[in-house]
Amino acid sequence: MTNSTARAVIDLDVTGPVIDRHLYGHFAEHLGRCIYGGFYVGEDSPIPNEGGIRLDVVAALRALNIPNLRWPGGCFADEYHWRDGIGPKADRPVMVNTHWGNVEENNHFGTHEFMALCELLGAEPYVNGNVGSGTVQEMSEWVEYLTRDGDSPAVRQRKANGRDEAWRVPFWGIGNEAWGCGGNMRAEAYADEARRFATFCRDHGDNKLYKIAAGASDDDLAWTETLMKAVACLGCKKDPKKFFQGISFHYYTVPGTWQHKGSATEFGADDYYRTMIKAADIDRVIKGHSAVMDAYDPGRTIGLVCDEWGTWWDVEPGTNPGFLFQQNTQRDALVAGLHFDIFHRHAARLKMANIAQTVNVLQAMILTDDDGSLVLTPTYHVFEMNKGHQDAASLAVHLIDTPAAISVDDAALTPVSASASTKDGTVLISVTNLSLDSATKIDFDLRGLAVRSPRGRLLTSDQPQTHNSPASPGAVSPVEFEVRLTDGTLTAELPPHSFATIEVDLDSEPRGK
Ligand code: AHR
Repeated sequence: MTNSTARAVIDLDVTGPVIDRHLYGHFAEHLGRCIYGGFYVGEDSPIPNEGGIRLDVVAALRALNIPNLRWPGGCFADEYHWRDGIGPKADRPVMVNTHWGNVEENNHFGTHEFMALCELLGAEPYVNGNVGSGTVQEMSEWVEYLTRDGDSPAVRQRKANGRDEAWRVPFWGIGNEAWGCGGNMRAEAYADEARRFATFCRDHGDNKLYKIAAGASDDDLAWTETLMKAVACLGCKKDPKKFFQGISFHYYTVPGTWQHKGSATEFGADDYYRTMIKAADIDRVIKGHSAVMDAYDPGRTIGLVCDEWGTWWDVEPGTNPGFLFQQNTQRDALVAGLHFDIFHRHAARLKMANIAQTVNVLQAMILTDDDGSLVLTPTYHVFEMNKGHQDAASLAVHLIDTPAAISVDDAALTPVSASASTKDGTVLISVTNLSLDSATKIDFDLRGLAVRSPRGRLLTSDQPQTHNSPASPGAVSPVEFEVRLTDGTLTAELPPHSFATIEVDLDSEPRGK
């Protein structure tokens, strides 16, 4: 194994924008075994549950402090009719989930079950409404059913279904991927639809909706510009009109083609580096969307929301291709670490991000089996190790010296990535060594404030292909990590393909907090 070195400077007394906790958001779609068999097993299951919601899944996710949960899709959102999912379960109609596996959906997990799940998780609900096949009236009444206090037809129906109090729903999606599964619309047509639907999604009482327009795929900046034009007026010298408060985009790490995405667990060095290059490219994509938004909204009053991100591999052999079930290795964990570093750097504009998806689908935190087993993935551990960044003030990490870039095809990858933040008298640094064969000694030169009590945690594995399974649930899990502090410089030695977090206590508070 070769060794390399890196050096970074962090000015502890110069804080940047706050890292919104909602950058650590989640996503649960009626897709494969995410809801049924994942979050929800039904009241009659021998697996311990509350109202059908699997309690071991809830306990594992509570440890992540998950800030919000998006539901019911994804593409499913634009096929979902919420009234099918309320009232006695025996009376709920069955539909076919044509988008995901052509399986029957019995609607046993609906609005009340989702809100109960959010309450158990301590997460804020992000409900994604149906624009593609729904009506304005249907969406408007869903908002009313959920959030209105006092009396109204929808409120009476909610009460009849067992819920007296209005719920608080802070986040509302106006359709999903309107350019594709959400209706195959052109940007201008969707922008008008979004304005129309958003008009009738009312703020009832003190429930204020943060409405999110369905945004671009990857770097489709023209889509974002069209949506910005729909809310703003260049040169009008007034704040954008708030038909919606956020604009989303989706970014998946697919290093191959959509037809041949590659295996989650069987990959070589070039596949690995292509994955990291593709993951790192989200930085360029966010910069692009942010620049477009800055032109129309220089005051940054509209948030950019990456409400679907993560790796997307070929499904595991023998599983339903429509269920998007994939394994999750140390490589996936490093993609998560890299994304979070980038998200933290864009905290001024990026206000929310949602990993796709939380359980049993794509880059999941948790994989479950019907026999009751539950496995935490390497990605789960990155979310857990990084949770201290939520609502912390960002700190710029200046990587002064880094090991030589690694090139594959025509692209190059900087093999070290890091980000930092400060909150409640501590500093949290996340650092990733992406090299497959080189350990890296990194020095963090901490300036401006004195620190003490360094402690570290490391997520590593013998191979980047290593993953957790019921037979070896702890194959990839965090361990203590040695960090030295000498005269304000933290030194750590990162093994190849590893992710680490380092914490220190501050001797005094940063200025300007
Ligand atoms: O997350 C899986 C799917 O990917 C979502 O349903 C859709 O929005 C996206 O294309």
